[in-house]
Amino acid sequence: RLRLRPRPSHFLHRSCSAKSAPALDGTEESDITEKTSTKTFSELQAERHEQAERTILISCPPNISEKKFYKYLSSYGAINKYFFYETFGIYAVVEFADKDSIGMLKSFSSIPSLQHECAIPFKSRFFSLVNNHPRDLSAAQPSVSCLKQSVIPLNELLRKLSGTESIDEQLYTICKEYQLTEENTRLRFLVCSLVKDIAAAYFPECSVKPFGSSVNNFGKMGCDLDMFLDLDSMSGKSNPKKRSVFSMEYQTKRVASERVATQNTLSVIGECIDQFAPGCVGIQKILNARCPLVRFSHQPSGFQCDLTANNRIAMRSTELLYIYSNIDPRVRALVFGVRCWARVQGITSSVPGCWITNFSLTMMVLFLLQKRNPPIIPTLDQLRDLAEAEDECIIESHDCTFVSNNKIKPSQNTETLEELLQEFFEFYGNFAFNQLSINIRKGKEQHKPEASPLYIQNPFEQALNVSKNVNQTQLGKFVTAARESAWLLQQERLKQPVSKTKPWGLATLLHPSTQSSGGRSKKQRQPASERIRSLLDSLKTNKQTSGFLNGPN
Ligand code: GTP
Ligand code: MG
Repeated sequence: RLRLRPRPSHFLHRSCSAKSAPALDGTEESDITEKTSTKTFSELQAERHEQAERTILISCPPNISEKKFYKYLSSYGAINKYFFYETFGIYAVVEFADKDSIGMLKSFSSIPSLQHECAIPFKSRFFSLVNNHPRDLSAAQPSVSCLKQSVIPLNELLRKLSGTESIDEQLYTICKEYQLTEENTRLRFLVCSLVKDIAAAYFPECSVKPFGSSVNNFGKMGCDLDMFLDLDSMSGKSNPKKRSVFSMEYQTKRVASERVATQNTLSVIGECIDQFAPGCVGIQKILNARCPLVRFSHQPSGFQCDLTANNRIAMRSTELLYIYSNIDPRVRALVFGVRCWARVQGITSSVPGCWITNFSLTMMVLFLLQKRNPPIIPTLDQLRDLAEAEDECIIESHDCTFVSNNKIKPSQNTETLEELLQEFFEFYGNFAFNQLSINIRKGKEQHKPEASPLYIQNPFEQALNVSKNVNQTQLGKFVTAARESAWLLQQERLKQPVSKTKPWGLATLLHPSTQSSGGRSKKQRQPASERIRSLLDSLKTNKQTSGFLNGPN
């Protein structure tokens, strides 16, 4: 009674917030999450990638019966897992046990015949489930439970933080509430896999891999989806070589540089996404950027997507962050806490500009953790020294080698997250930004090679600064907010919960009323003079030289 048909490319959705719902449906527990710690980054990626290839996305009619849905889809083959979510309409993600089931399903699906429009007959893995007997599934049917795919609103987070017992618990709460869910991660790999199907029309051996915060363990629900079109496997370098008098090469078009080749490829794939990919809208080709990209929005998932190509170093820095995130639970908790604080303070933004990025902030947290005594995480040079032959990685003559498995010993450092957060604010509130650069390869600050206000050395392309975009005003805003927060966090009255509902601890720093940019109530303004006086006193007595107070360079 239910029929599937591939979704026409012009079908648009307006996104709205997902509703909360019980846990993932389907069958046995995912082994991916369980074995995370024993698998390397690339093994995990390969597993997720293969899983996404066996998965489809379905737009469902309202009031769908879960039982009938499951029964109908199972007729094409065994289902490993499925879940529903809601944006504008109800969607289902279904993972089959076998890829062939999708072939079977496709052979029974049709291109819709539309009254006033015409469907482009591109057969993707994004379908519409058509209800041929609407009366059967009408009002009386309970609706399916939908899993939320959006981030918890700030006021709800603050309420949860106010109900905790310690600042450490607050930081772990932010991490737990903000991190990507298992289902959201599946959806991200599925969208990459759907984009791969488009690119594969030209480059059958290509793959599309997520990188950045979708897979580095620092992703927050709602973060963008960075994708990498990997054409490397096409070079044939790893093909078996025939011992013979001749060898064969493909005749190819030739262009002036690798950059031009990347721009041309992305331009064509961008065009195909625009013309053929159902659910992909607002395509922008940003081909003249340092790293050329195609940006678009995937409406059914609500993901803002950035597709790049020939970007192996970014993939490697993603893996590096992933490895750091697994060394000690404090790493993720502190990064999530600092990122959340920076967003509320208006230090980071969702639009590109001269502000500090999440990537730079993460580098700053990692650097601080390397500088603790004893260090909480090793330097990149130490990770390189632990590497074995199979870990060796040179990309465009840059040494990107580091250990890829769990050979890193846990740290002896026992500092609490509260202490580390305090240290973060004090360390960067007093850092000599005008003279020094941050370098996670060495775990030591170094003299800046040039005058950018904020200099964070790129760990792999060592002559580059990852925060070159940041201007003096934005750095100043960060330093001021760090000093204010260092001061606030020291106040005894804010260190303990007062009641289950009143903001305290970290919640005070995240409360819109205490943002440096936000307006303060009259009541809070009263002790401000006292607050500023102590702040200045604490700065005067600080033994470290304050680079920022010495003025911009
Ligand atoms: P959010 O998207 O803000 O959640 O974090 P993200 O880590 O995904 O950052 P972004 O989308 O800006 O960039 C994606 C990835 O590209 C990062 O994780 C890095 O691996 C890499 N990247 C971003 N900015 C830079 C940069 O300035 N220099 C270098 N070398 N790599 C960068
Ligand atoms: Mg990103």
